[in-house]
Amino acid sequence: MIPPSDHPARPVAAITGGASGIGLAFARRWIQEGGRVVLLDFSPSTLADAVAKLGPDNARGLAVDVTQNDTVLAAYASIDATEGRLDTVLNAAGIARPAPSADVSDEDFTLMLDIHVTGTMRSCRAAYPLLKRTGGTIVNVASVAALTGMPGRASYTTAKAGIAGLTRTLAVEWGREGVRVNAVGPGYVRTALIDTLIAEGKLRDTLIRERTALGRFAEAAEIAEAVHFLASPASSYVNGHLLMADGGLTVDGNWY
Ligand code: NAI
Repeated sequence: MIPPSDHPARPVAAITGGASGIGLAFARRWIQEGGRVVLLDFSPSTLADAVAKLGPDNARGLAVDVTQNDTVLAAYASIDATEGRLDTVLNAAGIARPAPSADVSDEDFTLMLDIHVTGTMRSCRAAYPLLKRTGGTIVNVASVAALTGMPGRASYTTAKAGIAGLTRTLAVEWGREGVRVNAVGPGYVRTALIDTLIAEGKLRDTLIRERTALGRFAEAAEIAEAVHFLASPASSYVNGHLLMADGGLTVDGNWY
């Protein structure tokens, strides 16, 4: 039975990595449509800032580390007890840690898979019983790295390809329960994650612009729009799809 809630009528989105970047942009988009969000992220202070920006009537923050299953389970139990419903999940928690493949440590490689792949799985698995009640949706964040090879990004490309595979399997496994599972594949967005790589000299912004058919970075709000499509009934017959929102980067064969 669904417990009583202070916000029974508002659709609820849970967002891992929701305190920043793409996750936060989707939180804004969901709230704009009248929804409420629960942000599941690392740092309590970043979460508090994000909730303050979105408004405490619209958002709640829960300290979650997606590598720690007990924190993920506790978060969804809290959503069940407090919001009393769950309509969509965006799995956007992620980090980047480039390293030459010959030098990458087991520890770093495994951490990337743990955050991105197993972290996404932990969140999907814990959310599933709640989503079955609403016929809800899951959107996982992949990347152009799910479809391309990238020197110095072995753990990231492996993790993002893993997210695409996980998305397809959950889609066919949970479709008959009315739970749709899709993924978005963003191109480059100037979030904290990318700004750090640029500042460390591990990515060059001029090259990204040259390599992207639209000739520019994405705004986080543009990726949030693609996520919103996959999360909402507008995509009611889309299931198991990886929607690239990459400015044409992965289809560009213009090398001449
Ligand atoms: P961001 O750094 O602004 O946001 C990522 C959020 O994830 C942060 O708030 C961080 O605290 C949280 N996080 C990291 N590890 C966590 C953990 N173990 N548990 C809980 N939360 C954790 O970065 P951005 O760009 O918004 O990234 C979101 C997702 O989008 C990531 O999966 C990233 O790989 C993916 N992505 C980003 C692209 C870009 O150009 N910014 C391109 C393609 C994919």
